[in-house]
Amino acid sequence: MTAKIIEGTKIAEEIREELKVRVERLREKGVIPGLVMLRVGEDPASVSYVRGKSKASEELGIYSETIVLPEDAKEEEVLAKVEELNRDPRFHGILVQLPLPKHIDSDKVLNAIEPRKDVDGFHPVNVGRLLIGEPYFLPCTPHGVQQLLLRSGYDPGGKHVVICGRSNIVGKPLMAILMQKKKGANATVTVCHTGTRDLAAVTREADILIAAMGSPKAITADMVKDGAVVIDVGVNRIPDATKKSGYRLVGDTDFDAIKEKAEAISPVPGGVGPMTVTMLMVNTVRAAEEQSGLKTN
Ligand SMILES: NC(=O)c1ccc[n+]([C@@H]2O[C@H](COP(=O)([O-])OP(=O)(O)OC[C@H]3O[C@@H](n4cnc5c(N)ncnc54)[C@H](OP(=O)(O)O)[C@@H]3O)[C@@H](O)[C@H]2O)c1
Repeated sequence: MTAKIIEGTKIAEEIREELKVRVERLREKGVIPGLVMLRVGEDPASVSYVRGKSKASEELGIYSETIVLPEDAKEEEVLAKVEELNRDPRFHGILVQLPLPKHIDSDKVLNAIEPRKDVDGFHPVNVGRLLIGEPYFLPCTPHGVQQLLLRSGYDPGGKHVVICGRSNIVGKPLMAILMQKKKGANATVTVCHTGTRDLAAVTREADILIAAMGSPKAITADMVKDGAVVIDVGVNRIPDATKKSGYRLVGDTDFDAIKEKAEAISPVPGGVGPMTVTMLMVNTVRAAEEQSGLKTN
């Protein structure tokens, strides 16, 4: 059996087309959804991520602005900027690009964002609301994973979902989303980490296996049950002399071997990656609908 490939690029495009209609509806009422991104310093990965989000905004008709503070900006300056943006009605969504320079307490900065504008969903209020099943926003990457599953015909309801990884941005919120007694969720969720004894024994129990470990090809074919659905969140650079850049991207799963065994699998790149930016756009539009009293869904 060769697995169905879960094409994130295609699904993300489908969601963006749906979003365009919502953006148009807002614009007709005089509301231009606005997203502001705050970057501190010139970390190349952050520069590139922010550029990607800005481009996606532009393509959808979302107004976006990037504010750049110098690498040596003081924590108080960053906090003051966030406060200013909280009050700025042009921006329905605020995103602080992580990581921040080491002298700045990221938690303090994230906690300063107005929760209704926290389109990343990292504010403790949003984390708590997610856990009790009343979210303002779903965090982008986990929401992207849920949408990949649903839109490929793999409803997690009643399934055993095993998540490898318990980070605050992927594993934990994904657990919180999929365990809810709700449509599109309602799964039995197991979360694994480096303290898990016999990881393979647990992953082999998964109907849906989600790898979010940051460990190249850590999930091998023998760790996957026949017919399982596998979502690979990992993005890892490995050396590749045949590439101009000298590296290539691989996920946390051994894609080539697993695709001969699984029912479906998401590739890297082209799987979860394109979904993350798209779900940020979804949250921004939702924030604009909420804040302007035009929420329709
Ligand atoms: N495509 C996207 O949009 C997107 C977005 C976010 C992240 N990512 C990628 O997803 C991956 C995970 O990101 P993250 O931020 O969640 O990473 P992270 O903060 O480093 O967390 C990794 C988690 O995986 C667990 N883990 C690592 N190696 C393991 C092993 N061998 N066995 C069992 N558990 C293991 C760790 O366990 P402990 O807690 O015990 O240390 C930790 O909970 C990375 O490759 C990242 O680049 C992609």
